Amino acid sequence: MEPQSPFKPDTLRGKTALVTGGGSGIGLEITRQLGLHGAKVVISGRREQVLRDACQTLGGDGITAAFVQGDVRRYEDCERMAGEAVARFGRLDILVNCAAGNFLSPAEQLSSNGFRTVMEIDALGTFNMSRAAFAALKSSGDAIIINISMTLHYGATWWQAHASAAKAAVDSLTRSLGLEWGHYGIRTAGVAPGPIEGTAGMSKLAPGSDAAAAVLQKVNSSIPLGHMGRRWDIAMACLFLCSPAASFVTGHTLVVDGAEWMYKPSLVPRDAVNRISRGVEAQSRAVGLAGASSGSPRSKL
Ligand code: COA
Repeated sequence: MEPQSPFKPDTLRGKTALVTGGGSGIGLEITRQLGLHGAKVVISGRREQVLRDACQTLGGDGITAAFVQGDVRRYEDCERMAGEAVARFGRLDILVNCAAGNFLSPAEQLSSNGFRTVMEIDALGTFNMSRAAFAALKSSGDAIIINISMTLHYGATWWQAHASAAKAAVDSLTRSLGLEWGHYGIRTAGVAPGPIEGTAGMSKLAPGSDAAAAVLQKVNSSIPLGHMGRRWDIAMACLFLCSPAASFVTGHTLVVDGAEWMYKPSLVPRDAVNRISRGVEAQSRAVGLAGASSGSPRSKL
């Protein structure tokens, strides 16, 4: 059963949101939750039928939704997307840059075009869309851009040099626009999801995780909270950032990953920590005391 939202259903009443990559996966759930909390929504993506179906699903939930087919790599498409939101609903207050591309590839096998493709969808696409929506967001007077990021680049991640570089650029944009556009009443924030169950990302980046229990357990055991996140968790983080509760938050990327990115296996099992630690301590004291009674320099300190 879907968890109940802690936000009031009219939190976003009167607002219009545009979500790129909003036709499926995390983007669709973000769109749905923005809509269920009162926003009118526009989704964009490359696959028209996917967008059409998504709009129908959103309509079934009582959400006022429209779609625009387009590719965030093309600036003129982004202008069309922002234009459509304003033409349909008279304003644009929330932009969620969720369109992204990724796949696993060893760097030595990744072509220049493969690297560029992901950089263009994620980094250039985020800039293009933000820039194309700027005038409409400025007119809103109380707007927010949310960039959906990742945690890949906090350290380094195997087989994702392209997406890591792209998301590092996205986070940099979040900070730069936070700095420059606050003046215009536009906040900018990021949300960095960890492993989210049932998404294209999981089936692409941890192949077999949907089906194979062993892979699933490996993923879960590297998340301190013990389980993968839900699309709902990411949508709630976005709702928080859009809500008045976050009106002083800008330029920041909120990590929603159950602390997965900082996970390291412990060298000592939890139930043995005290025993080992006290043993080591007792040993070092014994050595210290022996040194003191033999009049070593340490005893004079
Ligand atoms: N391994 C290595 N290279 C790959 C690859 C893979 N799995 N998939 C694509 N590429 C390379 C292609 O070979 C091509 O390079 P080349 O011209 O040197 O051969 C380049 O990437 C562009 O691929 P293409 O399929 O033409 O790009 P596209 O614009 O149609 O698709 C992708 C973009 C590749 C990112 C595609 O996966 C996509 O559309 N993804 C959107 C959904 C998604 O990934 N969401 C994120 C989930 S985490």
